Amino acid sequence: MSHTMLSSLVPAARDRAGDDPIFQLNAEARRRAASGESILNATIGALMTDEGRLAVLPSVLQTLSECHSERTAGYAPISGLPAFRDAVLATLFAGDPLAERSMAVATPGGTGAIHQAVVNFLAPGQKLLTTSFFWGPYRAIATHAGRGIETFRMFDDDGALDIAALETGLKRQVDQQGRVLLVLNFPCHNPTGYSLSDEEWREVAQCVNRLGARAPLTVLIDAAYMRYGGASELSWMEGARAMLAQATVLVAWTASKAYTQYGARVGALVALHRDAGELAQIENALGYTCRATWSNCNHLGQTAIARMLTEPALRERSGREQDALCDLLQRRVDAFNRHAERAGLPVPRYDSGFFVAVFSPDGAETARVMRGRGVYVVPIEGAVRVALCCTPEADVPRLVEALEAGVAAVR
Ligand SMILES: Cc1ncc(COP(=O)(O)O)c(C=O)c1O
Repeated sequence: MSHTMLSSLVPAARDRAGDDPIFQLNAEARRRAASGESILNATIGALMTDEGRLAVLPSVLQTLSECHSERTAGYAPISGLPAFRDAVLATLFAGDPLAERSMAVATPGGTGAIHQAVVNFLAPGQKLLTTSFFWGPYRAIATHAGRGIETFRMFDDDGALDIAALETGLKRQVDQQGRVLLVLNFPCHNPTGYSLSDEEWREVAQCVNRLGARAPLTVLIDAAYMRYGGASELSWMEGARAMLAQATVLVAWTASKAYTQYGARVGALVALHRDAGELAQIENALGYTCRATWSNCNHLGQTAIARMLTEPALRERSGREQDALCDLLQRRVDAFNRHAERAGLPVPRYDSGFFVAVFSPDGAETARVMRGRGVYVVPIEGAVRVALCCTPEADVPRLVEALEAGVAAVR
């Protein structure tokens, strides 16, 4: 644009990066593959079959196609279909009495739930707190809403969650902004693959309660990959129960990964609070944000997912299909861990999930060296992110060899 032309965009909206860098890398990988090169593309954030197609749940596709009606052509209620909202709570809490202290509103995926949390639990200018490795869009969601982001060192010298750094971060925010929104993406943290142990959840809860006594403190558990957490799927719940002594607990729930419906934009923000009056206030605030942001969410999607969550035959069928996808992913994770250990790759504990990080002092250079071998991963600060969700088990040895070379190049 010539410097004499006046932009009508407000300054904050100018010079934005148009395309997500991950989509750019993905596009380059596809171009090279289309020209006949042998390319291993481990950048995609969706679960793919070994044949390179999007993994889908046939039961969900069938239910979606059956749910089209005049009714679903109409608007859904602002805060979501009651059947959907109830079904999310019943599924998430799996019979635990914690459900009695909770409510949910529908959101467009986990992204909408995170937006809801940011605008209702931080004032303009304040910053959310999260781990030093984090899902990049947290920054965009916070910045776009006039809020910001701060991080604490994620791993201590033993490779466990750095509780001391968490405590320091919480203290700083209590002192400086008088309120905290802590975002924890466990189990199956994106981008590192880390899941908290029961003991780590306990320690986080103790730390939250110590600081929650001094200022309003909200913990948002981003549960995007919870269904793939295996043994860790329910371990957040004891932590949440303990945190309710002092804090508000939120869960960003989404059908994107668990029901392989990334495009349906079906999710929910679940809120938990010890006080019923406060919970009612939160419900009103979240409903107001729905109305003011996206009005209401996908009616067809909520109808279909509510059926998946509640009708016994559909629950059983989709549960079996989900288990098969978890097994597919787990075989890749196990193969990765075997090869990575043999190669001595610097990786965090990786029990399950779509991604793992491989540490590197120069992630950009590591990824560049790997691209020279036709292998695509996503460079991040201090690591590269490797998407096992789109890497066939048979390609894991090639992936690890390229990682070895990429890490060795910057040592
Ligand atoms: C860590 C994390 N949180 C939240 C989301 C939100 O996904 P969606 O908005 O599709 O539910 C994603 C999706 O990639 C994610 O990786």
